[in-house]
Parts: sequence; C-alpha cells; structure tokens
Amino acid sequence: MPDAIPQRKVHIKTWGCQMNVYDSVRMADVLAPLGFSVSETLDDADMVILNTCHIREKATEKVFSDLGRLRALNEQRRAGGRDELIVAVAGCVAQAEGEALVERAPVVDMVFGPQTYHQLPEMVVRVLERRGERVLNTDFPVVSKFDHLPEESAGQGVTAFLSVQEGCDKFCTFCVVPYTRGAEFSRPVAQVLAEARRLVAGGAREITLLGQNVNAYHGEGPDGRVEGLGTLIRRLAGIDGLLRIRYTTSHPKDMDEDLIAAHGEVPQLMPSLHLPVQSGSNRILQAMNRKHDRDAYRRIVERLRRARPDLALSSDFIVGFPGESDRDFADTLGLVAEVTYAQAYSFKYSPRPGTPAAAETDQVPEPVKAERLQSLQQLLNAQQLAFNRACVGRTLDVLVDRAGRRPGQWSGRTPYLQAAHFSAPDDMAGDRHGRLIDVQIVEAHANSVAAVPAGEPDGRPDTAGATARAERHPV
Ligand code: 5AD
Ligand code: SF4
Repeated sequence: MPDAIPQRKVHIKTWGCQMNVYDSVRMADVLAPLGFSVSETLDDADMVILNTCHIREKATEKVFSDLGRLRALNEQRRAGGRDELIVAVAGCVAQAEGEALVERAPVVDMVFGPQTYHQLPEMVVRVLERRGERVLNTDFPVVSKFDHLPEESAGQGVTAFLSVQEGCDKFCTFCVVPYTRGAEFSRPVAQVLAEARRLVAGGAREITLLGQNVNAYHGEGPDGRVEGLGTLIRRLAGIDGLLRIRYTTSHPKDMDEDLIAAHGEVPQLMPSLHLPVQSGSNRILQAMNRKHDRDAYRRIVERLRRARPDLALSSDFIVGFPGESDRDFADTLGLVAEVTYAQAYSFKYSPRPGTPAAAETDQVPEPVKAERLQSLQQLLNAQQLAFNRACVGRTLDVLVDRAGRRPGQWSGRTPYLQAAHFSAPDDMAGDRHGRLIDVQIVEAHANSVAAVPAGEPDGRPDTAGATARAERHPV
C-alpha cells in the first residue's frame, strides 16, 4: 500500500489586485495533491505564502514588516518545540526583489514569481527534504504556467475570477507591472471556455475576466485564428447558467469597436467598466507614456455610452506625477467633472525602483500630493454618492453572494457593482444565495445601497449590513 500523504495546512495572505487573488486560489489548487489544505489562520499552518504587490511603495513595505513578525513567530515555535513554518514569498515583490529578499530576510525559505507557481510542488519538496535549503525561482518560463496548472480543486463561489490575459507591453513610465508580470500573454479561447464551464458547474453565476490589459486579449481561437475580448465575451455568454460577465482592467487604447459593440449587445455583460485614465492633462499623459490623450479618452467614453447609455464608469488616477503642475491637476479635476464616475481609485504617485519616472528630477513634494489627493477624492466621492442616489427608486437585480448576520438578510452586487443589502422578512427560510433577485433601491450610502425586494414594498431596508467596499486596487 502506498504511504498516505501527510495532511498539512497552508495559510495564504494576498495583497494587491484581483489577479493576485486568482493566483492565490490557483496556488492552493497546485498544493492540494501534496496534502495541503487552506487554513484561514497562521496558528495551525505548516506553511505560509505571502502573495505580494509591488505597485506602490507602501504595499512593498508591508511585506517586510510581515516577515519580521514571522521571524518572531518561528522563534516562538522553535522554543516551544514545534516545527517552524515554511515561509514563502510570491507575487510581484518576489519577482522584483527576489535576491534581496533571500539576502535580507533569512526567515524566507522560498521566493517565486507570478509565472512559476505551477512548480510549487518541486519547490516545497526541496525545502521539506532539505530544511535550510532556500529556493529562488523568478524565471519567466517559455511555456505558460496555464498549461501546467491542475484543474481547479474547489469552486470559487457565486462570483469567480478567471485570468485570461497577463502581463503588459505598454510601459507606462510609473509602472512596475511590465517588469514583474512580463510580456503580454493571452490564454487560448478553448482553455478559457473550459475553465469557465467548470466554474459555472461549481456554482459560479458571475465571472470576472482578469488581465493586466484584459482588453488587449488576443487568444488563439478554435480555428487557429486570433480572437479579441469581444468575441470571447460573446462565446462565454453562450454558457448556460452564467448570468453575469465582467472584465478588468482595461487600457483605453485597446478598447476596440467589437468590444464596445458587445456592451450594447450582450445582456450578460454588466454595465460597469473600469477604464483607467490616470490623468486629465495631455502633458502628463504624454510623460506617463499612456499612448492616448484626453480627447481620445473622452471619445472612447462617448462611444461606450452610445452603446450602453447606463454604463457606470470607474477609473484609476495618479496625482503628483513628476512635473505635475497646478494647471495639470486642474485638468484632471476638469476631466473628472466632465466624464463623471460611479466609482474610482486614486493614488499619490509613488516612485518605483527601475521605472523611468522614478529617475525624474522634478518630483512633486509630498504635502502637495496629499492636498491634491484630498481634493480629487472629495470630487470622486461626491460623484459616487450622486451615482448611488440616482439609483434610489430604481429596480435592479442583485446577485446574492452573502447571507447577512441575521436570518433573512442578504447582500450582493447590483449590475453597476454597487454593494447592495436587503432583508426579505417574508421569506426567511428561502435560500437566496447565488440567485438574481430584483430589488428596489431605497437608500444610498457612500459605499453601498440599501434595498427591499421588488414587490415587497413594506420590507424594511437593511442598513445594518452596510459595509465599505474592499480596499483593493483594481489591476
Ligand atoms: N504610483 C502610484 N500609483 C500607481 N499605480 C501604478 N503604479 C503607480 C505608482 N508608481 C496605480 C495606477 C494603476 C493602479 C493599479 O495603480 O493608477 O492603474
Ligand atoms: Fe501596463 Fe497598466 Fe502598468 Fe500601464 S499602468 S504599464 S498599462 S499595467
């Protein structure tokens, strides 16, 4: 009889974008055949993976402070006669700072980048067999990891992520992604469809297609010809049981006619779109190497709204890019006022090692960045609240992905990605999880809306469950 595989636990901590969230789920899939199950806590874990983000300095600093805590924890374990945790650093900090991590943080056993986690079993076995040996694996393999990942071992639930494209060839001058994630790559259509079908069979009702430049998707189709994201979305819309499709994150330059048309034609494609512009100043857009100007962006937005008039737009903004003047910043505020956003993320420019903008001499002082961030966020928050308020009185469908704290309370997202909370007191026994429920929006908050089931006008809005949106950046 073969030896039973020892049962072990892995705790995975994820920072940054949805791509990292997806990668963490897939790392768990890769480790499952080795007897690893996921633990929500460190206490009973045998291994910890920090899946890291390098996009801004703050995100990177957090990794090093976590490593300090893990060193102390391992000392405690050693003193108490327990096995030490295997410590792995994955993701974009691992890719960018691999050697420095191995040198500066002796607690780390394993460092691997976003393109090599399909090799986790070999790495883990090496570390387990020879404790003390350290593994550094930050290659960009020629063969895609997607050809080697096992099938997903568990469903992701009602709302699932599916990575279809990775990497970036745009080289915006502030951004580390082209260096940490590598060149643009699209998964073949058949591979994406097969994964989507499995996700739906596992209970997914909404799939968000992920990519650093997801609308640059150009996967090989069944007949060998390359297909764009619009075509992929139309194919996905043919999957029975898949009620909603979203995609993130997009570059304005790759917003082609077919994809824009899909917004008007595919009912499953939700009317919300994250289309980062970063700045409203032509001078800064050029210095950022964004490959589009302010007018080109406005025209794309116009075309999108012609295809789908109720489209809820979202964006990323950077304030205090090197050389940004008061006038440039005023142009950003002007563009925001003109376009109007349902939601947005904004950041102070953070110089990243190795990127061209970090070497510029005309860096903007920190207090100026802080002041600009505050006024931009004030405007964006007001627009978000106005968008939520404009929904009051409307009937929208909510895909229920969570039960509330009390029986009969439910939460989910509207088509516009607003968090919505409602109570269904007449139907306490009915399980609404995973269902699309028509609700009437009755109250607007900054980060959510309260609703009552449509046709149940006496139901009371559920404001107790209102929570802030998760603070994740959206690449
Ligand atoms: N500084 C500040 N923000 C950045 N972003 C990317 N790089 C930087 C940086 N160096 C922001 C961009 C991007 C989002 C994911 O993070 O707005 O769209
Ligand atoms: Fe690529 Fe987006 Fe980074 Fe620009 S901001 S380099 S498009 S990942």
